[in-house]
Amino acid sequence: MNLVSLKNWSTEDVIEVVEGSIAIKNNPERYADATSRRTLSMLFQKTSTRTRCAGEVGMTQLGGHAVFLDWRATNFALADLRDEIRVLSAYSDVILARFLKHADVVKAGESATVPVINGCCDRYHPTQALGDLMTIQEKLGRVEGVRLTYVGVHNNVCNSLITAGLKTGMEVTVVAPEMNPAAVDEELYEAARKAGTYKTSDQLHQAIANSDVVYTDTWVDMEFFTDPAFEEEKERRIEMLSPYQLNAELLAGQDVLVMHCLPAHRGYEISGEIVEDPRSIMFDQSENRLHSMKGLILKLLGIL
Ligand code: CP
Ligand code: NVA
Repeated sequence: MNLVSLKNWSTEDVIEVVEGSIAIKNNPERYADATSRRTLSMLFQKTSTRTRCAGEVGMTQLGGHAVFLDWRATNFALADLRDEIRVLSAYSDVILARFLKHADVVKAGESATVPVINGCCDRYHPTQALGDLMTIQEKLGRVEGVRLTYVGVHNNVCNSLITAGLKTGMEVTVVAPEMNPAAVDEELYEAARKAGTYKTSDQLHQAIANSDVVYTDTWVDMEFFTDPAFEEEKERRIEMLSPYQLNAELLAGQDVLVMHCLPAHRGYEISGEIVEDPRSIMFDQSENRLHSMKGLILKLLGIL
């Protein structure tokens, strides 16, 4: 079993990881030796704070071991991805891979002989969505029927929230005047629309007023953030998207929880005031990346 995307997971599998992750968080001692002598290999083409630490620290807390591989310090770039993943499989029990391109995650999943976890590509960020479902379950006591509005640029995180909604009955409304081209997944949107768990809206205030959770993410994905070739596009987005910033004025009087996968760009997609607002649950959300990564690893190893 892989986690390339939550699209081919069953509802039962998703719920099992969410509930298992809460159980692990509440009783970590019980799982202290769960992955004894097992190894998680972590291959990253892009930067990371949360996903990397969740994998590495999580594996240590489960009694196992993690190997971090910065893509540039390996021989992956010199060889066929399939060959190197086969090699890595022989050293590992699970592989966590953060690749630029979704096609490479698929390729890795096909050629590995151990489970592969997508640690965030240009199309999906499924480990984020599992942690988000866990956080919503903890805060609201349910995920089914929870109304989540995603505001900003429709991207990998947004896709994984839509997928999570499709699997669990969480209702996702997207208010996004911009979409990352690499994120487009019409098949997903059609399925989620049909299930009644996804819609788009251009009515920002109305959508927020009808929400339990308001969620945003960066307007520019990490691989482009400091890329000089993306500078003009970045400026265009900042100007166009400024009315969509989550700030005190937009959220005045709204009884909502505010989520962000982090890293947050204060003053852009979200104001610093809202990051610190009592309605913000983003630091619980980021802590839950650790617990949910542990739940996911145990699930993939068949020991949850
Ligand atoms: N939210 C998230 O995935 O953070 P990192 O990019 O720091 O891993
Ligand atoms: N959309 C963001 C998610 C970061 C965790 C990015 O890809 O940079």
